[in-house]
Amino acid sequence: MPYYRMVGEVPRKRHVQFRRPDGGLYAEELMGEEGFSSDSSLLYHRHLPTAILKSEAVEPTAATALTPNLPLSPRHFRTQDLPVNGDLVTGRGLLAGNADVRMSYVATETPSELYRNSMGDECVYIASGRVRFESTYGVIEAGEGDYVVIPTGTIHRWVPEGRVTAFTIEASGHIRPPKRYLSKHGQFLEHAPYCERDLRGPQEPLIVEGEEVPVLVRTRGGLTRLVYRNHPFDVVGWDGCLYPFAFNINDFEPIVKLTHAPPPVHQTFEGPNFVICSFCPRPLDFHPEAIPIPYNHHNVDSDELMFYAGGDYTARRGSGIDVGSISLHPAGFTHGPQPGAVEAVIEAVRQGHSRTSELAVMVDTFRPLDLGPAALSVEDPAYAWTWAR
Ligand SMILES: [Fe+2]
Repeated sequence: MPYYRMVGEVPRKRHVQFRRPDGGLYAEELMGEEGFSSDSSLLYHRHLPTAILKSEAVEPTAATALTPNLPLSPRHFRTQDLPVNGDLVTGRGLLAGNADVRMSYVATETPSELYRNSMGDECVYIASGRVRFESTYGVIEAGEGDYVVIPTGTIHRWVPEGRVTAFTIEASGHIRPPKRYLSKHGQFLEHAPYCERDLRGPQEPLIVEGEEVPVLVRTRGGLTRLVYRNHPFDVVGWDGCLYPFAFNINDFEPIVKLTHAPPPVHQTFEGPNFVICSFCPRPLDFHPEAIPIPYNHHNVDSDELMFYAGGDYTARRGSGIDVGSISLHPAGFTHGPQPGAVEAVIEAVRQGHSRTSELAVMVDTFRPLDLGPAALSVEDPAYAWTWAR
């Protein structure tokens, strides 16, 4: 998706001679999705992007085993209790996953090494702090509330400014805006809750000099460290429709209704067999007799994982959920507001309360989620029984 962008210098025609000031040729590289049949960009390198000197196997630093959600239970995990660990790539504590997507949490102050995820796109939600995202396409300065969407295979690194916390979503394919937000030619439609102006891509090339530069590469088989002869950040220009971009959750324009609107109005991105939704501060439902929090619901085809990023959670009062919490409401279980929450919000509205300040990122998966070791280490075991109190 995102729309066409050009950064730095590119030749007037694609695939023609493009020369450096010393007369040598720049090396053209196509990064493209779906085998030359979808979005792509052309990048112009000072050095050959193919020149590697070494390839070494790497043992994973984090536990990656997943456990089925059995016996079936709604879950509450407190990421706020997870320790600062590693960097924004190696420090990810696995929360939940399946064959389509893996979700993790990381708190770190340490710059990462260069990284290339060749298994799929990543969407990294910055929960707190500021971080500089550096890549072959250039730099994106990211901060609290930013989703940074990174196309498969993009070589990049994360450089935090102080402590950063992030909720990371690793897909087994591509993460894109929902098709229903786009015209048949790809422009955001007027009913979409955000548009091209809200997407922030790199603005200028990033050139870093260096030789024998290691890059951590993740593939289905595991981790490898490839040592490149020259620093991969050597692109003098690129153009196309495939590049990393940031979108801030506060730029999402919530859609509100007379009575309660279901989560598809909050959808922000779609991935293979999952969706990402943003719950943002907004006016409450405005029918005079509305119940402006969710009804009990059972999404029979999906597991629903919610990261509570900020604000106040009226529907969750009494559940122990707080900013930084993650809830997992799996298929097979009907979930809804905690006891007393409906009566409390009706009374609050009667007294003039008219807005919700909730801020949350939700990932609904269409296949069951297994549980990761980081989640299980910070589970609140009382959560499942809070509706029966
Ligand atoms: Fe739900």
